[in-house]
Amino acid sequence: MVLLNVVASKLQYEPLTVRLGAVVSGVDLRETLDQEIIDQLSDALVKYKVLFFRDQNITRAQHLAFARRFGELEIHPLTQHKEGFKTQDIDPEIMVVESTAKTPITADHWHSDVTWRKDPSLGSILRCIVSPRVGGDTLWADMEAAYEGLDAETKAEIEGLTAMHDWKPFRQSMYGKPGTEQLIKDLKAKYPPSEHPIVRTHPVSGRKAIYVNDPFTTNITGKTREESRELLTRLYRTASVPDYQVRFRWAPGSIAFWDNRSTQHYAVGDFFPEHRLMERVTIAGDRPF
Ligand code: SIN
Repeated sequence: MVLLNVVASKLQYEPLTVRLGAVVSGVDLRETLDQEIIDQLSDALVKYKVLFFRDQNITRAQHLAFARRFGELEIHPLTQHKEGFKTQDIDPEIMVVESTAKTPITADHWHSDVTWRKDPSLGSILRCIVSPRVGGDTLWADMEAAYEGLDAETKAEIEGLTAMHDWKPFRQSMYGKPGTEQLIKDLKAKYPPSEHPIVRTHPVSGRKAIYVNDPFTTNITGKTREESRELLTRLYRTASVPDYQVRFRWAPGSIAFWDNRSTQHYAVGDFFPEHRLMERVTIAGDRPF
């Protein structure tokens, strides 16, 4: 086991792969952390892309307080319409991700969060409360490594292109339910499709990342879905290359903090009908460029 002392602090990072993912130790997230520690964690988030913490038995209030140190929190406007992802009658900034025998759910598709927003989130902090006995891992893909792995021809082809992003998967789960017709209309007006560069530049590191994902990207701007399909599918598939991934095994008290600007994630659906309960808090981001 390699433990790296990155800075002169009690924080230690154990990288899980050379590209992304590190387990952080030497910090107790129940405490109000010094600004210096928060700054070091912010830097580490950009460097490792996903930070993992173990045995952090924090409360909801401590989860929210920790996340607030990294920026304004975001409320997901659509999860109350999707089975298993309800923002419950607790703090609206907490998104519950719960799978039971009756309602088995998981986000088992590669995606980066809320890319249909004008300003998609900076990152999320996901806390495990109940883990299945086996399975239920989450994987993250390094979309900067995925960009670097493209051949020169593809890099040239996507240079300067933008794509449209839309919340269609949420809409699909709403169709046909009583009273949703007007709601869909209102939400469509509030959250129209967003246009983002296909290759985004990280606002802190300046590194380039592929920024399209299968559930939310609809088409390359100025092209039909059909005309866009071949290139977009090729780009989506880069997330599923194991060389770019890290995989995390959950236990109650485990936490993952990911950079939503440089990664995609996938929650594996291999644990049904067991119970899996997670809570996610999301930090607002800025406009991709
Ligand atoms: C998510 O997509 O935010 C959920 C990830 C997970 O349940 O592991």
